[in-house]
Amino acid sequence: MQTQDRDAARNRFSEGKPLWVRAIATPATEFGPTPLPLLSGQIPEGFQGTLYRNGPGRLSRQGQTVDHWFDGDGGILAVRFDAGEATASYRYVQTQELQAEEAKDQFLYSGYGQMAPGPVWKRWGVPPKNVANTSVLALPDKLLALWEGGNPHALDPVTLETQGLDALSGLTPKLTYSAHPKRDPQTGNIYNFGVIFGPKTYIQLYCSHASGAIDRQASIPLPGLSLVHDFVLAGRYLVFVVPPLRLQMLPIMLATKSLSDALQWQPHQGTQIIVIDRDTFEEVNRFETEPWFQWHFGNGYEDAAGNIVLDYIRYPDFQTNQWLKEVVTGYPQTPASGELWQLHINPQTGQVLQNEQRFNFGCEFPIVSPLETGQKTTAIYLNHHSHSPRPVEEMFDSIARIDGKNAAVRSMAFPSGCYPMEAIYAPDPNSPDQGWLLTVVFDGNQDQSTVQIFTANQLDLGPIAVLGLPEIIPFGFHGTWQAAM
Ligand SMILES: [Fe+2]
Repeated sequence: MQTQDRDAARNRFSEGKPLWVRAIATPATEFGPTPLPLLSGQIPEGFQGTLYRNGPGRLSRQGQTVDHWFDGDGGILAVRFDAGEATASYRYVQTQELQAEEAKDQFLYSGYGQMAPGPVWKRWGVPPKNVANTSVLALPDKLLALWEGGNPHALDPVTLETQGLDALSGLTPKLTYSAHPKRDPQTGNIYNFGVIFGPKTYIQLYCSHASGAIDRQASIPLPGLSLVHDFVLAGRYLVFVVPPLRLQMLPIMLATKSLSDALQWQPHQGTQIIVIDRDTFEEVNRFETEPWFQWHFGNGYEDAAGNIVLDYIRYPDFQTNQWLKEVVTGYPQTPASGELWQLHINPQTGQVLQNEQRFNFGCEFPIVSPLETGQKTTAIYLNHHSHSPRPVEEMFDSIARIDGKNAAVRSMAFPSGCYPMEAIYAPDPNSPDQGWLLTVVFDGNQDQSTVQIFTANQLDLGPIAVLGLPEIIPFGFHGTWQAAM
């Protein structure tokens, strides 16, 4: 599409809607390695490495919009910092399904919330489209584009050229690999899981070497067909928090409902917590507590008494899924706001020792320094709304740092019409207690995306460097920082 046509399409779709909508109004435009102009500030000295981000780059085709934000085709942004210069590229993950849809220029597949066109019987037995759009995992020789409903796709980490599905020396096609792997900062081992649906539903556990090759697997049964998006590495344990959602199997088998629409909120089932020994993959404990829903955890660790402490973004129910579905319309209307909570549990007795709110602004995307994964948390960083209660039609406009000890908050509110994506933490190689935050910001007043760098523990002082991107980057989900080798 020509720039002029794209601008006209963006204006049409965004009319009367909040400014953030301009970032998702048209499919993202790919670009090859492009030097980024420094718009303000200075790139920190010795800042060397690559920021990778993933997210749904294409939400519409021939005027038809996908049914859920989770169903957009994955697009990867890479921003490489080297010798005081920044160079960026953006490429779609060339999945087989995307290529088939490109060839016909129409949507062909079902997905998380999407239903394939045509008669119901044509959907029977057809696997969903692997949209490869949720996160990335940077391995020594490749970049993985992750999606929790299937195997990851491998990409060239420099050119972002798609190499194809990657079984990591251990996955079969029916096994899934979630988009929230955890890397132990001490051993480099990577822990992850996949939820496997079928006559028996279970969580498949994986442990990989730093290379990504899976060398240990185990299965743990699930209480029902629920949705588990993230998990926690906490000292010696892996913790799974299974929300009281249950999938209605009949409409799924008959292909009359999407997965998203077939998930039922059943609060009477309670939240099930499963604690696993990370070295043996054996179950340590399993117990039930009050109902809530979470997509994401900030971090987890074992305290001095051997209890598990974990931070999570808590929702009272599953309305958050409806809000995320409505994002693609450009005007979400279902109230759904998550808050930062902290849970303390005794892994041996299964007792919930404490479960309380830490931050009362609507927020998401909690992250910590990758050097603290599974260990004591110094600070959590997250995106939040500057107003409480959260305006239902708005995206996050602020990033906060919440001190792990006393919950002191330092927050950066972006100018009106500017929206940050998830923050990514880049540790300072010369000073492990220090680091930087990187985020991609969309300015809806200017139709401009920028990469912004902050000093992590002083983010409220504003960006220390702002770099201009050549195209609008649609809002994405997750990313990572890979320091230069
Ligand atoms: Fe996620």
